[in-house]
Amino acid sequence: MPAYAVIGGQWGDEGKGKVIDYLAGDVDSVVRYAGGNNAGHTVVNDKGTFQLHLVPAGICWPNVYGIIGNGVVVDPDVLVNELAEIAARGIDTSKLYISERAHVIMPYHIVLDHLEEEARGDAAIGTTGRGIGPAYVDKTGRAGIRVGDLLDWDALVPMVEQTLKHKNALITKIYGGEPLALDDVLAKCRIWADQLAPFAKPTEQLIQDLLAQGKRVLLEGAQGTLLDIDHGSYPYVTSSSPSIGGACTGLGLNPQAIKGVLGVFKAYSTRVGGGPMPSEIHDEEASVIREKAQEFGVTTGRARRIGWFDGVAGKYSQLVNGFTGLVLTRLDILDGFKTVKVCVGYMVNGERLDRFPANTGLLARCEPIYEELPGWDQPTASATKLSQLPDNALAYVKRIEELVGCRVQIISTGPSRAETIQVEPVFT
Ligand code: IMP
Repeated sequence: MPAYAVIGGQWGDEGKGKVIDYLAGDVDSVVRYAGGNNAGHTVVNDKGTFQLHLVPAGICWPNVYGIIGNGVVVDPDVLVNELAEIAARGIDTSKLYISERAHVIMPYHIVLDHLEEEARGDAAIGTTGRGIGPAYVDKTGRAGIRVGDLLDWDALVPMVEQTLKHKNALITKIYGGEPLALDDVLAKCRIWADQLAPFAKPTEQLIQDLLAQGKRVLLEGAQGTLLDIDHGSYPYVTSSSPSIGGACTGLGLNPQAIKGVLGVFKAYSTRVGGGPMPSEIHDEEASVIREKAQEFGVTTGRARRIGWFDGVAGKYSQLVNGFTGLVLTRLDILDGFKTVKVCVGYMVNGERLDRFPANTGLLARCEPIYEELPGWDQPTASATKLSQLPDNALAYVKRIEELVGCRVQIISTGPSRAETIQVEPVFT
C-alpha cells in the first residue's frame, strides 16, 4: 500500500495534529519527517487532550506505529518527557522508532538559538527557542551529532569535544555568553544513549518493509509550506522542509511511494513570529478570532497573528506540493461573522500581483485585494455532514477550492475527532 502525506499549507498551526489523529485509525504507521519540538500538535480524542511536540500524532491508536525519521531534529529530554507523560495516560509508547540518522538537538544549540535571536534585534525571526535552527545548521555544516552517534561512545567523545570547542568560542567571543562544560554535555549524552537505544532503528528500511507488506503509512508534516527553508518567506522561516520534498529526503522515501498529498489549511490564516503576512488583520475581528479559536502557540504560548484566508499563498502552496486533496480546518470559528474576506491578489508598487513573490521585501509591501463573501448565522460547529452546512459556508469552501485549485476532502468543524466532515475518501 502507498504512503499519504499530511502537509501544512500555510504558516503552521493548521490543525495537522487533529487531522492525523482522525486519519490514523485507517493506517498502520504515522511518520514525522521534518522539524522538531518547535511543533505542537494538539490531539483531542476519547483518551483526552494531548499536546505532542515530537511523538507522531497517531500514537493514541492501538497498533499504529510512530516513526521519527532522519529529517527530524530530536531533543531527547523533550522526547523522553513526552513519552512518559503519554504512557502515564495509558498510551502504549513501545511502538515508537527513531531514525539512527536523526540529528540531536544538543544543549549548545538551545543556548545559541537564544543568543542569535537576541543579536538579531529588530530583525529577530521569532524562533521557538528550541535550538532547531542551530541543530540544522550543524547538520548541513557536517558538525551534527546523530542518534546513532550517541550509541557509539568512543566515536562520540572526540566529536562532542571538537564541536563544543567551536561552539564555546562562538558563545563567549561573539555573543558574550557563558561556555558549556564538556563533562556536563557528555553526561547528558550518556543518559540519552541509554534512553534512546531501544528506539533507534534504520527507519528508511522499516518504512520500506511496511509498504512492501501492504501497510498504509501516513507522513506527518510539521510547520507549514510558507515556513519552508526553500519555499517559505525566507529568512522568516524554519530551518527544515515542511513541504512534500522534505518528506522524501526526511525519510529516505522514494516519491513513487506517495499516492496522496493532503494540504491542511485553516479557514483563515495565522502566523507566529516575525515576517510578512499580507492578509494580516489588526482590527477587532482579529481579536475575536484569536479569543474564540484560542490562537496561542502550543509550544511557546505566544499570541498568533491573525489574517483572512490568503488565496495567493494557497495557490503557491498547491504549486509547491501538488496537493491531491485539501483539509479545511476551523471553519466553525467563522460562524456568526456578517461577512468573511478572502485575499484573491496583491497590490504592490501600483500593480496587481497574482503570485506569491520570492522576495520577502516585496512580499512585505504587498497589500491584499479582498473579495468579501456573505457570512453565515447557523453554526457549522460540530457538523459531521456536508448537508448540515449553511449555503454561505458551502460557498466559502467552494471559493477556497477555486483559489487553491484543489478539492476539499475533509472539513474540520471542531477540535475533537468526531467533529469532522468526510467530504470524499482520502485513501483510494
Ligand atoms: P524555529 O523553527 O524555532 O527556528 O522558528 C522559526 C520560525 O518558524 C518562527 O517564526 C516560528 O514562530 C515558526 N515556527 C516554528 N515552528 C512552528 C510551528 O509548529 N507552528 C507555527 N510556527 C512555527
